[in-house]
Amino acid sequence: MDSNKRPDTMARITTQELANSFIEEQVAAVRAQVGDKKVLLALSGGVDSSVVAALLIKAIGKQLVCVHVNHGLMRKGESEQVIEVFRNQLDANLIYIDATDRFLDKLAGVAEPEKKRKIIGEEFVRVFEEESNKLEGISFLAQGTIYPDILESDGVKAHHNVGGLPEDVKFEGLVEPVKLLFKDEVRVVGKALGLPVEMVDRQPFPGPGLGVRCTGAITRDRLHALRESDAILREEFAKAGLDKEIWQFFTVVPDITSTGVKDGKRLDYWPVIIRAVNTVDAMHCSVPRIDWEILEKITNRILSEVAGVCRVCYDMSPKPIATIEWE
Ligand code: XMP
Repeated sequence: MDSNKRPDTMARITTQELANSFIEEQVAAVRAQVGDKKVLLALSGGVDSSVVAALLIKAIGKQLVCVHVNHGLMRKGESEQVIEVFRNQLDANLIYIDATDRFLDKLAGVAEPEKKRKIIGEEFVRVFEEESNKLEGISFLAQGTIYPDILESDGVKAHHNVGGLPEDVKFEGLVEPVKLLFKDEVRVVGKALGLPVEMVDRQPFPGPGLGVRCTGAITRDRLHALRESDAILREEFAKAGLDKEIWQFFTVVPDITSTGVKDGKRLDYWPVIIRAVNTVDAMHCSVPRIDWEILEKITNRILSEVAGVCRVCYDMSPKPIATIEWE
């Protein structure tokens, strides 16, 4: 039987009960597969790797070694949440690497979007590889592969996979406990494992992170404006309940300036673009109508709280023709 093919008879995991029996089965399967050996996992904090981590912690506890690489392009508070949930709450064996300087130095002056993606992807592999070489006695590599990854592995999403891992690192085998699940099922399993709802229900976040939203050559000050404005948007959308209605939303800080005036002085400042989309397949998207007062509140907060910004715009463009991300 092809272990990468979902059996026609497999029921969709839609309830906590079904999730619990899936978890029980996988815990037994993982224990049988790895015995008393060690397993390594790149834990990005995304839904898939987080659910795999929680499942493996349940199955093998400290035999799992999680490595969280902060590439400096995470959203505000994201790495902190990974540490809080996995190290403090779940008592995981977690290695945290702050590689911010390394990534931002490599990206300095690089404006071409695909080049930026390539640098981020390659650097990620390099950091992970270096870290795994330092560790002794790791036999297995765990991955948050899910069923759509297998179905789409003919190239469609290839450039999207920043966590594509080193091929020359030799492991005895792969541990991929959610590889036959669809995203919604992974979320149900995550909730049954007790992961925080905001981690399990979080919106898609590109592997290259904020790097594709700080368009052109990334600078630390513009990245800071991006991270802070994005945090304000997320906070206000959550307060208004829009985080449950809108599929993906974020801010973008393009590499342009426009004139602003402060204390009687004319200065060049960046614009912040708000991007929000609804979709079922990420191929066709519409732009939700947002209550004017909410947009006004977000605008006022960004203009008063985020340094270097003098303008806030709402991106009205559907996909196609515009992609969801700005680059
Ligand atoms: P676009 O911009 O192509 O985005 O309309 C479609 C979806 O894919 C996400 N996206 C990425 N995800 N690495 C990823 O892991 C990437 O390089 C990447 N680029 C776009 C995007 O956030 C949206 O959900």
